Amino acid sequence: MLEKDNLGKTYHDATKHSYLSVQIDPNYVDASTQPVAFKVYPKFYRRVQLNLNNPVHSFIWLTSAVTFEKVYQDVPDKLRVNPSAGALYPTEVYVQIRGIPGTVDGIYHLEVENNCLTLIYELIDDGLESYIIPGRSIKGCIFLISCVYYRSSWKYQDRSLRYCFLDSGHHLGAVAASAYLHSKDIQLIFDFDKLALNTDLGFENKEFVTAAVISGEEQERQIRRLRLKIPFVCGTDYFEANQLIENSYQVTAVQRSHPQLLEQPQFNFDKDKFHQTVWNRRSVRRFRKQLISQEDYLYILQQLEQPIPSENFEEIEIYSVVHRVEGMSPGLYKGTHLLKSGNFSEKTGYLCVNQAFARDCAVTFFFVSDYINYQTAMQFAGFLGQKIYLVSNYLNIDCSGIGAYYDDETQEFLETTKDVLYGIAIGK
Ligand SMILES: Cc1cc2nc3c(=O)[nH]c(=O)nc-3n(C[C@H](O)[C@H](O)[C@H](O)COP(=O)(O)O)c2cc1C
Repeated sequence: MLEKDNLGKTYHDATKHSYLSVQIDPNYVDASTQPVAFKVYPKFYRRVQLNLNNPVHSFIWLTSAVTFEKVYQDVPDKLRVNPSAGALYPTEVYVQIRGIPGTVDGIYHLEVENNCLTLIYELIDDGLESYIIPGRSIKGCIFLISCVYYRSSWKYQDRSLRYCFLDSGHHLGAVAASAYLHSKDIQLIFDFDKLALNTDLGFENKEFVTAAVISGEEQERQIRRLRLKIPFVCGTDYFEANQLIENSYQVTAVQRSHPQLLEQPQFNFDKDKFHQTVWNRRSVRRFRKQLISQEDYLYILQQLEQPIPSENFEEIEIYSVVHRVEGMSPGLYKGTHLLKSGNFSEKTGYLCVNQAFARDCAVTFFFVSDYINYQTAMQFAGFLGQKIYLVSNYLNIDCSGIGAYYDDETQEFLETTKDVLYGIAIGK
């Protein structure tokens, strides 16, 4: 594809951070004006309280559960299994349930704050399949991840669409972790008729679908599009439109990625310990400059090589800036291959907008890509980011996502022409 045709790249280029741009606009906001981070449908909709002894409920619940509550600057923060840039949580989850005894066939909104499913649409001969996998019907669950973008653009303005996509990828990673713990295979789908779905789900311009996840038995059957439009319900208490975000979402929703064969990952974690890890996952902002073992570093890299279960593909290259790994000389690596040696901890701290944790950690990862579909590539990066969080926390290594970095200078440091999509720091 010609560069000028890559509309994702146009957005990415327009939202680069530099030393100067961050000085001019440091994203300060009045915390008391933060829009609400939980969508609630009106009370007349029927609700099903999640019962954690029911394996389907437990599977759905663990994709999005609130795991920790704290108060920050007088604002209560409800932290969840999935991390989110700035803890703003633009993502929402909808689940279509079909053919599960004891549950009405329908589309449900997952009301994270109240641990319940809100039935927003009852199925007859229609359903989400017609938008996502035409000609098929799924006995089981179809998850949809969407973004209420103003929750993030309130603070991060134009750059927030990047965080919406990365957060969505992290949320997909949380769905995958819950599926693993409930012994379910899943398929992630990125190329489908998102625009029609946004209209029929009543999202207007304020919320948009980013990905779907299938978990269930596929049957050949013609399912119709939703026979009724779902009414609009706002995911925030107030809203300000951002035209760049809306346009960039739309143009990146229709480009198709490379095809690949669907392959399931094979993980070998101790499930009780992994469950604890999912539950206790957190971001850490302070590292004590301690070494991690080479064995742990290699184990994390190995898990990253496991396939992402999707027929859509975007290649993500991972650079590691190794600062403190036993038995490895500090330097810039691709996997175990040393590209340039040196102690770059001060440099990465600077590149990540002077965030000290990117300097004091053991390894700073950067994900780069020559994507076709920017929306999918960013979600792949977020998905891999979630994997790094969980695998490192599983090994008692701390982690944090890094959405803020000086784009061009980081690219220059990595000596790549590909766009830098995301950073992650791990360490102790
Ligand atoms: C896409 C993304 C980008 C992030 N970028 C940063 C960052 O640049 N600096 C930082 O301190 N934390 C960053 N974080 C971490 C979030 O602040 C953190 O996830 C959020 O506060 C919730 O806390 P928790 O992860 O402990 O649940 C990022 C997280 C995500 C998912």
